[in-house]
Amino acid sequence: MSAISVGLLGFGTVGKGVYETINKHQGRLQAILGKQVKVSAILVKNVDKHDLPDKDVLLTDDFQKIIELPKLDVVIDAIVGKEPGYTYLRQAVTRGCHVITANKEMFAHHGSELKTLAKEHNVSLGFEATVGGGIPIIQTLKQLLNANKIERIEGILNGTSNFILTSMREEKLSFETALKIAQEKGYAEADPENDIEGYDAFYKAVVLSELVFGKTPEWEKSTRKGITDISIEQINIASSLGLRFKHVASLEKEKNEVRCTVKPVLVGESHPLYRVEGVQNAVSIDADIVGNISLQGPGAGMFPTASAIVEDLIHLGTNDFPAVFEEDEAEGIEGGLPVWALL
Ligand code: HSE
Repeated sequence: MSAISVGLLGFGTVGKGVYETINKHQGRLQAILGKQVKVSAILVKNVDKHDLPDKDVLLTDDFQKIIELPKLDVVIDAIVGKEPGYTYLRQAVTRGCHVITANKEMFAHHGSELKTLAKEHNVSLGFEATVGGGIPIIQTLKQLLNANKIERIEGILNGTSNFILTSMREEKLSFETALKIAQEKGYAEADPENDIEGYDAFYKAVVLSELVFGKTPEWEKSTRKGITDISIEQINIASSLGLRFKHVASLEKEKNEVRCTVKPVLVGESHPLYRVEGVQNAVSIDADIVGNISLQGPGAGMFPTASAIVEDLIHLGTNDFPAVFEEDEAEGIEGGLPVWALL
């Protein structure tokens, strides 16, 4: 029985986490999916920089070599930025591959086109890892939306910012030192400006807004502010008053528009986000039938993000397209791929 063939785009913190998780938990994956999962190819920037023990993995800087593999079932996107991620995923979907992405910037800009394209090509599109790191926020919202109308979402969506604010307050670290540690721990983006200026949390809020309200917030009418103006003196004064700075994203539907605000706020001890510390993210959801639901967990890092991606992979094989994973020869073609892909 052939394995589920995965093309992995990117071999930074997230890509490595996915590769290691798939290999380490092969037995678990096989038990659930009925097949082994094989990372067949990895897209890297510089092939010479990597030395994988598994020599039958195609390590390449050329996406075309991956998309032209004779058997490719799933493409996992662990690269950053709108492009080339969007172009690569379009090609993958068009070829008939299922895709899973952790790329929030790309998904905030092109998620809706990709969802439509995936539907047209009858493939699945997983994006659990775009928001909240290891918190299963996307599946939870989908589940809630089966019965509920969601009225408001508020939360800490950037692990790096929360880690910096916590380290400045608790460890008395400077902003720069705290950021450096966040980078070393693999929390921060390649370009940390996205984290500290609030873009990353904003992109995640856009992804949530599309899912929950069916539309993106008006970008021009939204507030997006990061944490760079907060000094250690301000943090200390706030502390002496029993208050903490938190970088909070909120989404609310007003009439036919979605209001999105991403900015630092001061919260007191009774606020639900007051004790959300370090790299943790938290999301508070107000829904009309169930009431309030709060989720909290690791918001960034190698394995929390890998966990979200592998959850998507399993969901895909057990819920969305089990037949694809069970029956290679279903259409008389290996992997059930369209004929043109093999020509
Ligand atoms: N840089 C992001 C963060 C990674 O700190 O939240 C997880 O999306």
